[in-house]
Amino acid sequence: MSLFNVYPLFDITPVKARDVFVYDEKGTEYLDLYGGHAVISIGHSHPTYVKNISDQVSKIGFYSNSIQNPLQVKLVAQLVQQSNCKDYQLFLCNSGAEANENALKLASFHTEKKKVISFTNSFHGRTSAAVAATDNPKIVAPINAQQEVEFFDLGDLSSVEKSLQKGDVCALIIECIQGVGGLDESTTEFYKGLEILCKKYKALLISDEVQSGFGRTGDFFAFQKHGIQPDIISIAKGMGNGFPIGGILIHPTIKASYGLLGTTFGGNHLACVACLTVLEVLKEENLLENTKTISEYFIEKAAEISQIKKIKGRGLMLGMEFDFPIAPLRKELIFKHHIFTGSAKNPNLLRILPPLTIKKQHVDQFFEALKKELS
Ligand SMILES: Cc1ncc(COP(=O)(O)O)c(C=O)c1O
Repeated sequence: MSLFNVYPLFDITPVKARDVFVYDEKGTEYLDLYGGHAVISIGHSHPTYVKNISDQVSKIGFYSNSIQNPLQVKLVAQLVQQSNCKDYQLFLCNSGAEANENALKLASFHTEKKKVISFTNSFHGRTSAAVAATDNPKIVAPINAQQEVEFFDLGDLSSVEKSLQKGDVCALIIECIQGVGGLDESTTEFYKGLEILCKKYKALLISDEVQSGFGRTGDFFAFQKHGIQPDIISIAKGMGNGFPIGGILIHPTIKASYGLLGTTFGGNHLACVACLTVLEVLKEENLLENTKTISEYFIEKAAEISQIKKIKGRGLMLGMEFDFPIAPLRKELIFKHHIFTGSAKNPNLLRILPPLTIKKQHVDQFFEALKKELS
């Protein structure tokens, strides 16, 4: 038997990780500006995280959703408080795709409609409705293509309205700041316009915060900068700092009924403790503030480098656009300078998605290496 060969791999084997560093089996230290794809929020192997998860697994790690789990109740209270999404309800699952799948399904149940509106360059995951709402035909199998999805460019409010006027749209799904698509973000006027149109035509507005949520942009959620109130917010990645957990926050106007949604593993004891610890550390260590400070510092430093044509994104969800493909540069950064960075759909964009605990000295370390490679 062998592994199903779907991932091109870098020949590096991390065996240990601490805060913003990972270490291979020979003890080589790598600076992690990729965060395992925007997953590591409070730093690798944070001592509180290690302790809380170890303590929990020694008590009870899992039981089904047919019993009381006070950790879920604690999590909803803490999440609502820290995200400022008052009165929202929480449904827990295991990944970003699953969160979006449940969000779209719930929107369809709620509105009794089935068409979805999505946007150019979006990424929402690889499951049925989520992949159909993803702008990448290569990963949409024939079985997924039956979903009715219309794609529009970010900013094109009038085409969105024309589509909504037909009255068959259950949901509009959007990353307020795009992740793998390349960090594009439209104007507040556009996002507010979408909110108004969704209300007018009785479609639900889903904000995909799988990558941008839990403080990555410096706000708890990326949509908050635009002052909108989505009907459903999907979350995952930074939520568990590596422990698989996802979820949707559901506006109080959407009512639950037994059996409407369900999962075996979602919201298990360990996942809840992982997320509660992320919330605790984000608060205790002021990591949203740190995200903003380091982001400013990073952008200042990037502005000094003439080969960087554009700096995109906000918080610690940043990208540097060059006028050449970055794949060879990314390789040099890993193998010569021992620094992990990320790529995007745009081949010229180098992405930076570090743990939110990163400090100025790590940014300096990155720019020293980058300058050497560009000189
Ligand atoms: C914005 C966004 N939505 C959804 C997903 C899918 O999440 P997962 O890989 O956990 O299924 C991703 C993953 O990269 C993402 O960036």
